[in-house]
Amino acid sequence: MREVEEMERSGKKPKLVFLANMIEARDIRAPEFLPKFGKCLPLFFWNVIFFIRALLASKGMGRAFKALPEYNILEKVTGQHLIIEIPAPLMMGWGIKWLQKITIPITRKVIYRAAFYAQDELKATVLGLGSLVKSITEKGRLIKQQGIHIPITHGDAYSVASAFQGVEKMIEEFDIPEKRIGIIGCYGTIGKGLTKLFLSRGYKVIGMGRKKEALDCFKKKCGNEELEVTTDLKYVVNESGVVITTTSATNSLITEAILTKNRRYFIYDVSQPNNLPEKEFTKLINQGYQIIRVDGGFEVGPSQLDLGFWLRLPRRIMYACFVEGVMQALENDNRDHVEEVEFGHILKTMEWAKKWGFSHTPLTCFGEELSKDYVPQRKTSLTLALSRVCAPLT
Ligand SMILES: NC(=O)c1ccc[n+]([C@@H]2O[C@H](COP(=O)([O-])OP(=O)(O)OC[C@H]3O[C@@H](n4cnc5c(N)ncnc54)[C@H](OP(=O)(O)O)[C@@H]3O)[C@@H](O)[C@H]2O)c1
Repeated sequence: MREVEEMERSGKKPKLVFLANMIEARDIRAPEFLPKFGKCLPLFFWNVIFFIRALLASKGMGRAFKALPEYNILEKVTGQHLIIEIPAPLMMGWGIKWLQKITIPITRKVIYRAAFYAQDELKATVLGLGSLVKSITEKGRLIKQQGIHIPITHGDAYSVASAFQGVEKMIEEFDIPEKRIGIIGCYGTIGKGLTKLFLSRGYKVIGMGRKKEALDCFKKKCGNEELEVTTDLKYVVNESGVVITTTSATNSLITEAILTKNRRYFIYDVSQPNNLPEKEFTKLINQGYQIIRVDGGFEVGPSQLDLGFWLRLPRRIMYACFVEGVMQALENDNRDHVEEVEFGHILKTMEWAKKWGFSHTPLTCFGEELSKDYVPQRKTSLTLALSRVCAPLT
């Protein structure tokens, strides 16, 4: 509060620093990192380099994060991205439990150092968390506990609002008759918020999670008869009209083993990395499965908003969690939005979005716009190779 008053007096603009991790090792080849040199080494070696750098940084030697150039947000706020140079699969130990016990603590230390750098060197007034940064810091709570005094937001309230709007758009666009919504990862931060929001708007929800106890506890807390919970991935995928994937898994959850060929599936993928990645999606389409998959949690903002770089995303497209950080800075909101998502805050971010001109993007699948009569096309290895050469990171 004191800082905001001082800033207002001095005429300085609020500053958002957005702290996110690399999604995949190939991101090193993005224009923001090492587009040429990045291609000289196979990705396996990059993973080894990322790990060694993170290990050293966790012991105070060098740092394993990169500050991208500052940008201006609607002339009212400045912004800057700090990217943790540890790709999500490495951070999560490729899903291997014993490896996670090594990689997660190392990554946390790098994140804490980056958070202090944001606060003390970059003079951030709001710290936004993206991708899996919040997942491995107990929804931002561990960062706060280190003594960070600026407000922190994990952006999940608006990610919930954005996903809700995206799914409603999908139901309308494709005229989906079955209104039961499947939520994979239903007791995660976004999953919980989405479940509550869909239930409050009269939808039936099938919530899926791996832990029966956590599911039962969540159902009890919700106290809503329209919520059914299951640990069965095949069941949720086949019984729901639209399936939302919102987990911290770094592998594909949608696989041949749980699909049948005699129905159409509608999948809204919020997860970063995706829970239905392009490679698996293309494989399934080529095998004859009918899947309409939508890029989840993507927002478009006012035309004047130009970051100057677009990390993996087409121009003007932004992650919803980033948009929440932007809006929090624009609104000079000094509260922390970490841990559980407050239902009231989801509704508040919807109002902010209307005010500042953010909305869900038109429906896309890996950047390709989807129309009502869209039918996924089988791809030959030649068209796949060509699309990779033309758009290596989107
Ligand atoms: N597009 C956007 O703007 C945007 C914004 C924010 C977040 N995200 C992405 O959304 C995803 C979820 O974020 P979050 O903040 O809700 O994360 P979170 O709070 O860490 O929750 C993730 C949930 O995923 C579950 N999970 C992990 N592996 C699973 C598996 N194999 N099967 C079923 N459930 C599994 C975890 O439950 P267990 O206890 O079983 O491990 C946990 O409940 C992340 O990928 C994040 O990067 C996207």
